Amino acid sequence: MQQQFLIYLVLIIIYFLHFITDQGTVNAQSSSCECSPAPYSQSGTIRCSTNSDCECLWTTLTERGICADAVMPCNNLQSCENDNKTCSIPNTICVNNTHCNRPVCYPLERASSQRCPSLNDNSTNNIPRWSSTTNMVAGCYAHASVLLKNGHVLVAGGSSAALITQVYNRAEGLWNRTGNMFFARAYHTLSLLNNGNVLISGGKGNGSSPNTAELYDPLTGSCTMTGNMSVERDSHTASVLTTGNVLVTGGNSSITSLSSAELFNPLTGLWTVTSSMSIDRTLHTASVLANGQVLVVGGESSIGLLSSTELYDLTRGVWSRTGNMISARARHTATILSDGKVLVAGGRLSNKYYTDTSEIYDPTTGLWTKTGNMTIPRQWHTASLLPNGRVLVVGGISNSVYVNTTEIYDPLTGLWAKASNMNTMRGYHTATIMANGRILVAGGLDNDVHPLFNAELCG
Ligand SMILES: *[C@@H]1O[C@H](CO)[C@@H](O)[C@H](O)[C@H]1NC(C)=O
Ligand SMILES: *[C@@H]1O[C@H](CO)[C@@H](O)[C@H](O)[C@H]1NC(C)=O
Ligand SMILES: *[C@@H]1O[C@H](CO)[C@@H](O)[C@H](O)[C@H]1NC(C)=O
Ligand SMILES: *[C@@H]1O[C@H](CO)[C@@H](O)[C@H](O)[C@H]1NC(C)=O
Ligand SMILES: *[C@@H]1O[C@H](CO)[C@@H](O)[C@H](O)[C@H]1NC(C)=O
Ligand SMILES: *[C@@H]1O[C@H](CO)[C@@H](O)[C@H](O)[C@H]1NC(C)=O
Ligand SMILES: *[C@@H]1O[C@H](CO)[C@@H](O)[C@H](O)[C@H]1NC(C)=O
Ligand SMILES: *[C@@H]1O[C@H](CO)[C@@H](O)[C@H](O)[C@H]1NC(C)=O
Ligand SMILES: *[C@@H]1O[C@H](CO)[C@@H](O)[C@H](O)[C@H]1NC(C)=O
Repeated sequence: MQQQFLIYLVLIIIYFLHFITDQGTVNAQSSSCECSPAPYSQSGTIRCSTNSDCECLWTTLTERGICADAVMPCNNLQSCENDNKTCSIPNTICVNNTHCNRPVCYPLERASSQRCPSLNDNSTNNIPRWSSTTNMVAGCYAHASVLLKNGHVLVAGGSSAALITQVYNRAEGLWNRTGNMFFARAYHTLSLLNNGNVLISGGKGNGSSPNTAELYDPLTGSCTMTGNMSVERDSHTASVLTTGNVLVTGGNSSITSLSSAELFNPLTGLWTVTSSMSIDRTLHTASVLANGQVLVVGGESSIGLLSSTELYDLTRGVWSRTGNMISARARHTATILSDGKVLVAGGRLSNKYYTDTSEIYDPTTGLWTKTGNMTIPRQWHTASLLPNGRVLVVGGISNSVYVNTTEIYDPLTGLWAKASNMNTMRGYHTATIMANGRILVAGGLDNDVHPLFNAELCG
């Protein structure tokens, strides 16, 4: 009896020791801009600590990054077990993106927060996790950006850049001007088509708002005109459907906001009007769900801010209502999380107020639930899904000023945490996640209300 008790006691102690080591590992990570290497990358160059010897290593068993001192000779490190996931050596963990070119058992002690202080520590809060890159060719805000299939980022138009298109070359860290659009545009949309071309639609022009659309060809860097939409629209949404067609919804047209929606067929270059939403919406969001349906959320209408949301069924070409948000909002962000749910954050609540609240849509129930509040209210911010499933929110306008602050949402805890500041305050910018997991933030407006040339990288 007593012996059994002792065995249990020992097991419990072992369990807790494990727990403590696990916790140690988790704490060693930076939660700022995240320690999140691509699991397949050998690069190991992602900065995660104020100690530049520390790198973000990928743990094969727990499938997350740990920030560890990476200056260690390979021949001192044992290989992981044959499964390439586990280690039998005590106090080590199997990692597979070191320069050793084999999965190795890494001493956990090398991942301690003493050795690799987090970039997010209070004491080190001001250490930039953001790095500057070269300036854009033309300063702009209310422009649009998209990641091209060749890995470069296209930025088109925007206020003051008007007709200009420019491409960020990730490998060179340089911007190049490419062919002009035929129409000046701001508050327009870019959609990456399956053939690699980009559909540029609508927007606010210089004087008038075009109902026109153009196609950008990344091979030639030039634009050609394609079919016209049935109406002029800006501040609308454009979603690439699973069929390869593009669904455009709502937006502003001269003096009214629109309930109409239309579909672009890349094979014919023509638009067809599809059924209208239940109400006019502008400055709303549209997200393509895993089942192919498009979820349209909130926005401003002729009757005020909307909490209503609706779903577009592309097989039948019809809209149906789904759950209302808890809070009416426009100029928010909507992000599809890795579990298929949709996170909506911030936005405008009235002419005066913007919100720090966020909520989550569950496509299986059609219902919205409250989740954590952001650290500050924001509108005209951006939200990007990080490779590790968390969401990075950047900049925007808060309490009437443009901010340089950023924060991260963790879907596991439902909480937001402050992350490191950008070098520049901005709203009306774009944030584009590149194939290496780094985020390119470009342009926007600052408190001097100047269109920014400046761009910076996170991660
Ligand atoms: C590292 O492990 C992950 C699974 O944890 C695997 O998907 C990936 O291919 C591995 N990378 C390398 C370079 O072996
Ligand atoms: C483990 O990794 C090594 C080296 O990367 C590779 O040759 C081997 O096939 C891997 N084994 C398994 C079971 O994945
Ligand atoms: C450190 O951060 C925590 C949580 O953000 C805060 O409660 C605490 O006051 C900070 N401490 C200092 C010394 O700034
Ligand atoms: C940008 O231009 C330079 C030379 O002017 C060229 O070497 C580079 O490949 C161009 N990059 C892109 C993305 O077009
Ligand atoms: C807008 O159009 C006017 C003439 O209609 C022209 O003078 C001006 O340069 C244009 N602005 C831009 C940014 O293209
Ligand atoms: C599209 O609209 C533009 C501007 O109004 C016009 O010049 C052009 O002819 C139209 N294209 C088609 C195919 O109708
Ligand atoms: C679009 O309409 C909304 C609501 O009327 C307005 O607040 C916004 O400024 C308009 N956008 C543009 C680009 O004019
Ligand atoms: C979130 O913020 C709203 C107001 O924006 C407030 O009413 C609510 O109590 C906050 N919730 C939490 C959990 O702090
Ligand atoms: C961010 O903005 C604050 C003012 O709100 C400023 O004090 C701080 O220096 C800025 N941080 C960076 C990294 O520019």
